Amino acid sequence: MNTKPFSSMPRATATALAHPNIAFIKYWGNRDDTLRLPLSGSLSMNLEGLETRTRVSFDVVMNADRFILNGEVQEGAGLARVSAFLDHLRGMIGQQIYALVESTNNFPAGAGIASSASAFAALAMAGSAALGLELSEAQLSRLARLGSGSASRSVPSGFVEWYAGEDDLSSYAESFASPDHWDLVDMVVIIEEGHKKTGSTAGHTLAHSSPLNTLRIEGVPDRLARCKAAILAHDFEAFAEMTELDSNWMHAVMRTSTPPLVYWTQTTELVLWQVLHWRKQGHALCTTVDAGPNVHVLGLASELDFAVPALKALPGVKDVIVAKPGGEARVLSQD
Ligand code: DP6
Repeated sequence: MNTKPFSSMPRATATALAHPNIAFIKYWGNRDDTLRLPLSGSLSMNLEGLETRTRVSFDVVMNADRFILNGEVQEGAGLARVSAFLDHLRGMIGQQIYALVESTNNFPAGAGIASSASAFAALAMAGSAALGLELSEAQLSRLARLGSGSASRSVPSGFVEWYAGEDDLSSYAESFASPDHWDLVDMVVIIEEGHKKTGSTAGHTLAHSSPLNTLRIEGVPDRLARCKAAILAHDFEAFAEMTELDSNWMHAVMRTSTPPLVYWTQTTELVLWQVLHWRKQGHALCTTVDAGPNVHVLGLASELDFAVPALKALPGVKDVIVAKPGGEARVLSQD
C-alpha cells in the first residue's frame, strides 16, 4: 500500500458514496467478533437509488472525533463505533489525528435496510481517500468489514460474494456479476419503521448458542454455490429456492438462540405466505428477511407492476421501496 506523508497536510477531506446491500446467502455469526471474520461466506446485491454519502475531514487542530448523522450530532455508542473505525485509519498512517464525519442516508433510518453496510463502506472509502491511502478494492472491502461485516459487500459492484476467509487478509468481498447482469429488483416491504430490538452486532454473538448453528454453517457452501450459479444462469426458480431456504435457516438459528431472537411479526408471516402463494401461481417472486420484521421481496423487474400494488394492499404494510442492482462504493470528491 502507498501512503503519502499526512504531516504535510494540516487538513484533508474526501466525500464518498455507498449503497446498502441485501444478502441472499446470509452472514450470521463470527469466528472473530473483533475482526468480524464470519462463520461462513455470504452473497448479496447492492441496492441502487439507496445511498449513504459521507464526508470525512481530518484536521490537525481537532482533539476528538465528531460525527454528524443526517444533520444531528451523534454521541455515545454511535460516535464510539465511528471513532473505533477511524482508529484503524490512524493506525495505518501512524498518527493520532481526529476527524469530522458528516453522513447522510437518503433512506429512512430503521426502515429495515441495514444502514451500517453503506455507512462503513462510505466511511472506509472517504476516510482512506482523505488520508491519501491508495487501497485496492479488496483492501477497502477488508477495511469496511472492520466497521460492519456486511459493509465489506457494499464496496464492490453489483452481485457480490464475501469470502469467509481464514484471517483478516483473506476475508473480503468481490463482485461476480455487474448490476446489469440480471433484471432483479428488491421490493422492501416496510412493516415497522422503529429501530430493531436486538441489533446485528449483539445478534451475531448469540448464534453460537443455537443447537442449529453448526448445521446451518455446514450447509452454506452448497447453498451459496447453487445460489450463485442460479444468478449467473438467470434461473429464478433455483435462486428463489436457495434464497428462501437460507433466510429460513438464519431465522431458525435466531429463534433457537438463548435468549431467542424473534424478528418476525404477523405481517411478516403474512407477506412471506402471500409471496409463496403468488410464486405457486407463476409469479417470479421470493422473499428474504434480515434482523428485523421487514420483508425483502425479490423478483424479476417484469413483476413490478403486479407486485408493488399487491404488496401495498396487504394489511399492515406501510410502504414498499423498490431498488435495482447497484454499483460500487466510490469517492465523489477529494480536497
Ligand atoms: C441479518 O453486518 O449488520 O443483515 O458486522 O455487527 O455490523 P455487524 O453486522 P451486520 O450483519 C448483517 C446481518 C444480516 C445478514 C446479512 O446482511 O448478511
